[in-house]
Amino acid sequence: MQPLSHIHRNKFPTPFFGLALVLLVSLASPTSSCTEQQKSSLLQLLAGLSREGGLTASWRSDMDCCSWEGITCSPNMTVTDVSLASRGLEGPISPFLGNLTGLLRLNLSGNLLSGGLPLELVSSSSIIVLDVSFNRLTGGLHELPSSTPARPLQVLNISSNLFTGRFPTMTWEVMKSLVVLNASTNSFTGQIPTTPCVSAPSFAVLELSFNQFSGNIPQGLINCTVMKLLSAGYNNLSGTLPKELFNVTSLEHLSLPNNHLEGPLNGITKLTNLVILDLGGNEISGKIPDSIGELTRLEELHLDHNNMSGELPSGLSNCIDLTTIDLKRNYFSGKLSNVNFSNLSNLKKIDLLYNHFTGDIPESIYSCSKLTALRLSYNHFHGQLSEKIGNLKSLSFLSLVNNSLTNITRTLQILSDSRSLTTLFIGFNFLHETMPEGDSIDGFVNLQVLSINDCSLSGKISDWLSKIPNLGMLLLHNNELTGPIPDWVSSLNFLFYLDISNNSLTGEIPSALMEMPMLVSEATAPMVFELPVYNKSPFIQYLMPGAFPKVLNLGTNNLTGLIPEKIDQLKALISLNLSSNKLSGEIPRLISTLTNLQVLDLSSNHLTGTIPSALNNLHFLSRFNICNNDLEGAIPTVGQLSTFPSSSFDGNPKLCGPVVGNHCGLPEASPVSIASAKQFGNLVIFFIAFGVFFGIGVLYDQIVLARYFC
Ligand SMILES: *[C@@H]1O[C@H](CO)[C@@H](O)[C@H](O)[C@H]1NC(C)=O
Ligand SMILES: *[C@@H]1O[C@H](CO)[C@@H](O)[C@H](O)[C@H]1NC(C)=O
Ligand SMILES: *[C@@H]1O[C@H](CO)[C@@H](O)[C@H](O)[C@H]1NC(C)=O
Ligand SMILES: *[C@@H]1O[C@H](CO)[C@@H](O)[C@H](O)[C@H]1NC(C)=O
Ligand SMILES: *[C@@H]1O[C@H](CO)[C@@H](O)[C@H](O)[C@H]1NC(C)=O
Ligand SMILES: *[C@@H]1O[C@H](CO)[C@@H](O)[C@H](O)[C@H]1NC(C)=O
Ligand SMILES: *[C@@H]1O[C@H](CO)[C@@H](O)[C@H](O)[C@H]1NC(C)=O
Ligand SMILES: *[C@@H]1O[C@H](CO)[C@@H](O)[C@H](O)[C@H]1NC(C)=O
Ligand SMILES: *[C@@H]1O[C@H](CO)[C@@H](O)[C@H](O)[C@H]1NC(C)=O
Ligand SMILES: *[C@@H]1O[C@H](CO)[C@@H](O)[C@H](O)[C@H]1NC(C)=O
Ligand SMILES: *[C@@H]1O[C@H](CO)[C@@H](O)[C@H](O)[C@H]1NC(C)=O
Ligand SMILES: *[C@@H]1O[C@H](CO)[C@@H](O)[C@H](O)[C@H]1NC(C)=O
Repeated sequence: MQPLSHIHRNKFPTPFFGLALVLLVSLASPTSSCTEQQKSSLLQLLAGLSREGGLTASWRSDMDCCSWEGITCSPNMTVTDVSLASRGLEGPISPFLGNLTGLLRLNLSGNLLSGGLPLELVSSSSIIVLDVSFNRLTGGLHELPSSTPARPLQVLNISSNLFTGRFPTMTWEVMKSLVVLNASTNSFTGQIPTTPCVSAPSFAVLELSFNQFSGNIPQGLINCTVMKLLSAGYNNLSGTLPKELFNVTSLEHLSLPNNHLEGPLNGITKLTNLVILDLGGNEISGKIPDSIGELTRLEELHLDHNNMSGELPSGLSNCIDLTTIDLKRNYFSGKLSNVNFSNLSNLKKIDLLYNHFTGDIPESIYSCSKLTALRLSYNHFHGQLSEKIGNLKSLSFLSLVNNSLTNITRTLQILSDSRSLTTLFIGFNFLHETMPEGDSIDGFVNLQVLSINDCSLSGKISDWLSKIPNLGMLLLHNNELTGPIPDWVSSLNFLFYLDISNNSLTGEIPSALMEMPMLVSEATAPMVFELPVYNKSPFIQYLMPGAFPKVLNLGTNNLTGLIPEKIDQLKALISLNLSSNKLSGEIPRLISTLTNLQVLDLSSNHLTGTIPSALNNLHFLSRFNICNNDLEGAIPTVGQLSTFPSSSFDGNPKLCGPVVGNHCGLPEASPVSIASAKQFGNLVIFFIAFGVFFGIGVLYDQIVLARYFC
């Protein structure tokens, strides 16, 4: 029947030789045989599945189950491990698995399993590691009666499922060996459980983030004397941090972001073993205590999006292991020079976006040679950038938007030497200075994103920009640049986002623009932001410039001539804005072949002729504006164009159709109806634009930037 097992058994009496043979044979083929009872428990699981991920081929009832895929047995043929992670299994988890009395580890993570988690598994008298994370399990976790004998479970990972209901409290009383409880990313309600801290002397990891836990941080945490990690971010926790929390001095990782926690931070500095502290997105107020310097192991400090104020304490200089300081969106003020950054030589990321810091950027920051990302935007720093920034050899992301920095020429000269810089946002500075001319700037060999918006800069779109070989996004909007759009734009092989709107550019739209490689093809350039760049809502973050749409915004300039016929080559364009110029001639018919377009704004020009009916082919178009031109003829009454309101068409007296209340086909109709003239004056037309708006990285993607009366 099972010859290999027979050989094995026959030789067993001579231990040494037997052992050697076992080793020998086990290299070539299965050596043990599982009991029928184990086999049938496993086959129960298989039988219940609606998709078994190819297991049937291996799980043959005529074979020893210890040789089945995903099954491991101990030498005495007891099934100890069932490892079936990421196999595409679909269907319920069989409670019969609870009959595998020697099962130690069950890993069903990353499948499509549904239904409840059988109590037989949680309360198994053998399982020590149970991982059912990343499935579609539903329902609640049932309480085990406290009369249940002690259970051996050490690691329970039920994260990333669809569990609901109050989180059990009593169950944990019988889990005397529990070390890790991971229930993140479900919809559990109730309070943070602390019972395991009393019942399980080794309880170390409690991970509950992305649920709906509410109430205060429980005082019961005082009993969690060996806890290393407490993570309960993205819940509905409220109240202040209780002093009992500060007794849990074993804590290394405390992560409670995006709750409603309030009050001061004092006391936290008793947690001297902290490595990661994340309280971002709460309502914490007051100062960072000077005693923060006692957290000498601290590597990550996240206090962003709170209500904190005051100066940074000099004590911060003692946290010499810090790699990340994230204080964005608070009310911190004063000079940064309290902190001696020379000591913080491990810093990689500093994010101080949206605070009230003043003074110079402290020189000591330039000794943090491992810095990859520095964001000081929306503060009140002033003066000129120090050339010492050249010491930051790893700096990839630099954002200085909306401070009061001066001398753009010097700034760009200094930064152009940086070989690691990929992202540079410096808008809302250098007011009324002049864009450096000609070839005065050289370098920026790895720069991918350059934003110098809202500086009221005069001068031209200078040639040095054409020498930035990897430029993907160029934002120069809201300046006072003059002269033509240079032909070399099309030589920037990676440029996919160009916003030069609201300047005083003149001349025609160069035909070279119609050759821009990234707009002609669907290709994307792989790029990553070191810090998330925010859209209007704080919850939309861009981690990659590639996630931005392909945009060409030439609006609000003094461009003349025709819209180039070859515009139809820019097949990858998502947003095209030529509004508020002096363009004349007809709307090129072949614009209708730019089928990716979501935004098309040609308003406030001198365009004539009819609306090409083929524009109805632009099925993704969600914003369309041709108001304030001299177009004529009928507005389509069916198709995509018929979905836009009159404000998209107003200010074209010769256009007709129901939407503008001007009937077509009546030769005697007066050329300009009173009604449309009235609308002309009253209607607020929304001007649509993609663009970096709130400076360092706050990007609005569709916002009303200006109001136009058609
Ligand atoms: C098999 O060995 C394990 C230890 O590896 C032991 O706990 C279990 O009791 C043994 N089972 C049998 C049936 O001998
Ligand atoms: C096997 O498990 C099922 C479901 O939990 C249970 O009904 C049955 O009694 C168990 N059989 C044995 C032999 O333990
Ligand atoms: C379960 O398997 C997955 C995939 O191999 C692995 O990432 C995970 O760490 C395993 N779980 C446990 C508790 O070891
Ligand atoms: C589930 O959590 C455990 C304990 O934290 C961990 O070892 C395991 O890797 C996690 N599983 C996955 C798939 O990440
Ligand atoms: C919890 O489980 C998730 C997988 O669902 C894993 O990514 C995470 O690292 C785990 N957390 C802890 C603290 O073990
Ligand atoms: C800590 O645990 C003890 C039992 O060991 C319990 O009496 C006490 O109430 C717990 N403390 C808190 C604050 O829950
Ligand atoms: C969050 O908790 C507060 C009370 O602390 C409660 O009023 C509110 O309904 C909860 N919100 C959600 C979404 O559960
Ligand atoms: C908690 O900490 C305070 C002061 O840090 C101390 O006085 C108290 O004894 C501690 N309580 C326990 C139970 O350790
Ligand atoms: C924010 O902090 C200030 C004091 O710095 C306080 O007056 C105000 O009430 C706090 N606001 C909130 C929402 O906590
Ligand atoms: C800052 O620290 C560095 C090195 O640790 C030290 O040399 C320097 O004197 C300090 N600067 C100030 C102003 O304390
Ligand atoms: C700007 O910096 C340059 C050096 O790059 C310097 O020559 C010039 O004087 C500075 N301008 C002002 C106004 O400080
Ligand atoms: C366009 O040029 C005219 C003068 O020719 C000027 O008045 C107007 O401000 C310019 N518009 C823009 C946006 O530069």
